[in-house]
Amino acid sequence: MSGPLILGIESSCDETGVGVVRGTTLLANEVASSVAEHVRFGGVVPEVASRAHLQALLPTLRRAQETAGIDLSEIDGIAVTAGPGLMGALVVGLAAAKALAFALDKPLYGVNHLAGHVAVDLVEHGPLPQPCLALLVSGGHTSLLQVDDVARSITELGSTIDDAAGEAYDKVARLLSLPYPGGPHIDRAAADGDPTAIAFPRGLTSRRDLERHRFDFSFSGLKTSVARYVETAEAEGRPVPTADVAASFQEAVCDVLSAKAIDACAATGATDLLIGGGVAANRRLRELLAERAAAAGVRLRTPPPVLCTDNGAMIAALGSAVVTAGLPPSPLDLGADSRLPV
Ligand code: KG4
Ligand code: ZN
Repeated sequence: MSGPLILGIESSCDETGVGVVRGTTLLANEVASSVAEHVRFGGVVPEVASRAHLQALLPTLRRAQETAGIDLSEIDGIAVTAGPGLMGALVVGLAAAKALAFALDKPLYGVNHLAGHVAVDLVEHGPLPQPCLALLVSGGHTSLLQVDDVARSITELGSTIDDAAGEAYDKVARLLSLPYPGGPHIDRAAADGDPTAIAFPRGLTSRRDLERHRFDFSFSGLKTSVARYVETAEAEGRPVPTADVAASFQEAVCDVLSAKAIDACAATGATDLLIGGGVAANRRLRELLAERAAAAGVRLRTPPPVLCTDNGAMIAALGSAVVTAGLPPSPLDLGADSRLPV
């Protein structure tokens, strides 16, 4: 095992994550989620998330330290998510990371959350080939990224112009009276449905839209279309065919995500496509991407679901890449940026 020993702290949304890596070897990945506290609100409540981070951070740090079998005095640096994310949530992680850096006299590295979703693949599959693309799909983001150098150069080729893919899953789950977070419930309900039962729209795929938005996504029209379908069925006194709606909705989302990701590989000459974010756990998305990637000669890099959702290992992995690249540490007055570009 070689390379820098890095502690990573993630607190951009509802997961408090602390990870430890040495080089690209994962030593610990402890996550405390406040998702249960958001269920009754049907979505993440920023202030509830911030308070939960405040409570969970030090116990999670302690668990990570024990799992990794390290003393904090041994670490070479502390990486922390500086953005994008919920401001109050980011600030809790940053304050903890700064306090540790100051007390231990270790360098601090403020890093980008989206780049972290890409970097986590290093601990699973080793160095990223060039050129490589990443499809990040979660409750907060939906982006297609060109990864030239995970520590230094990631370019956003496209992103959602309205809802994130996971947000669409959560909203449609609500329409179908399925619990929050809706993604896994729709994934399961869809298994018993017919994906061709209802022709839901594929956002930004018309010839005209493709001219301006070739690598962008839109899911709000799809969500409205599902809402109308459900309302009509209810108004007519018909039972809502939950499994068919779930399967048809899911097909529309996964069709567009996979088609645009593979098209982007063809357009950029990328030989590898990696996926990340909570929606990357979706079975149909993995299946469609595997089929289409194989047909296009693109290798697919799919981290295990536990590394796809928000976690501290991804921030530690990115911090390790930043240190290895020789980039300078961040100042201790580093601020959080809720809209930090990649
Ligand atoms: O990455 P993540 O844990 O948190 C952020 O949003 O940053 O992603 C959570 C999102 C939620 O919207 C959830 O519904 C969705 O990922 N999700 C899924 C699945 N598992 C989680 N969506 C579709 N299929 C799944 N199996
Ligand atoms: Zn994320």
